[in-house]
Amino acid sequence: MAISTNLPVACKEFENYLNKLFNISDCDIRTIIKDFHSEMQKGLSGYESSLKMIPAFVDRPKGNEKGKFIALDLGGTNFRVLEVELDGKGNSSVLAVSKFVIKKKDMQGTGDQLFDFIADSIKSFMQENSISCDKQIELAFTFSFPVEQTNIAAGTLIVWTKGFTAKGVVGEDIVIVLNEALKRKGISNVKVAALANDTVGTLVAKSYNVPSCDIGVILGTGSNACYPEKMSNITKWRGVRKKDNMIINMEWGNFDKLPITTYDKEIDKASPNTGRQRLEKLVSGMYLGEILRQVISDLIQRDLIFKDYGTNVFHKPYGLLTEHMSLIEGDNSDNLGEIENFLVENGIANINLHSKVLLKKLCHLVSARSARISATAISAIITWMDPELKKNHTVGIDGSLFEKYPGFKGIMEEVFEELFKDKAKKITLELAKDGSGKGAAIIAAVAASSEK
Ligand code: GLC
Repeated sequence: MAISTNLPVACKEFENYLNKLFNISDCDIRTIIKDFHSEMQKGLSGYESSLKMIPAFVDRPKGNEKGKFIALDLGGTNFRVLEVELDGKGNSSVLAVSKFVIKKKDMQGTGDQLFDFIADSIKSFMQENSISCDKQIELAFTFSFPVEQTNIAAGTLIVWTKGFTAKGVVGEDIVIVLNEALKRKGISNVKVAALANDTVGTLVAKSYNVPSCDIGVILGTGSNACYPEKMSNITKWRGVRKKDNMIINMEWGNFDKLPITTYDKEIDKASPNTGRQRLEKLVSGMYLGEILRQVISDLIQRDLIFKDYGTNVFHKPYGLLTEHMSLIEGDNSDNLGEIENFLVENGIANINLHSKVLLKKLCHLVSARSARISATAISAIITWMDPELKKNHTVGIDGSLFEKYPGFKGIMEEVFEELFKDKAKKITLELAKDGSGKGAAIIAAVAASSEK
């Protein structure tokens, strides 16, 4: 439904300016793809690049992997422990799952503090689900941060992302850090069989039963992707070449050749990882609300919105969440009642229709830019693997931005149509729910069978 309102001229002009500022044009898309390819090439060759292109020491599964595993999923404010069973016929099921909220003081304290919390959580999960403390059990660890893997079950943390800063962990082998915490808590029957990034878990979990899946993407708190690369293209690889392909964790969140606005610059400057994760700061759920908040604050300063409510409205950094944007953009009612309720909850009552419409449009500017950049990055991977789009490509995607944000998937698909016309049909975006937990278990199974 189109809602027409008469906006004041100054507001209309500013809105036009913002439209241009946030637009990712056809020309931008083509430039980004070109730059993406060049950074991919550099990353695979071991040259300095904003794309780290990290070999994951695993290829896609065959679908016959079997067994029961404990999987840990650490990558945001929620930490999960799961028990996963693989039936060897392409089916995986989660037998039990517990979610633990990580407090800011543990995210940003010492490494021991964070990993003690993790070990305690594992202990209570094992007790609650009557998992024996005597029999050896294999554990798969999805650790969704940039890790330089040195083996299927070993790797050092390069840098923290997504607001984590726990001291003393960067440069350390994450599996050793976890093992030490397990030891401190008296857990001696757990063996870490696999360490994986969430994108790799997502790709592995989806391709366990959808063989055409060749890209794993996360569009959630953070954003990243992985795909299987020919070993011969990974020229920085110094190990034995046992397989033809290996999955590459791109760490695309750090890609830095993108059109940036003054709002983005402010967010980057105030973040604990200034200059890094530039794509993530334009795309992922952790930042979209904050970008919108910066835009609204600017409009308030210019007296173009919420005039009678002063500068105090939405003044708290990161106080506006992507979930709020979902709610605002998803309100299709005539009087925009949901938006009204949201504003009233935030102390803004009796607001006119045009401010509500404007708010909805602002959300769209920020979310559509995110969806267009995500689709552009996926297009870059597809054209890298298959320049003429000869094959079908299923992209397994996990994360609440993709799953829940109204219209996000549709905007991504529009980019494929703009770029590939009829061939866009060859690209399927599929939700890969719980990929990071299930996928890590499959990787552990692959590792266990190759050990045998
Ligand atoms: C961040 C992490 C990356 C992870 C992504 C999604 O970008 O650096 O490893 O895959 O978030 O969780």
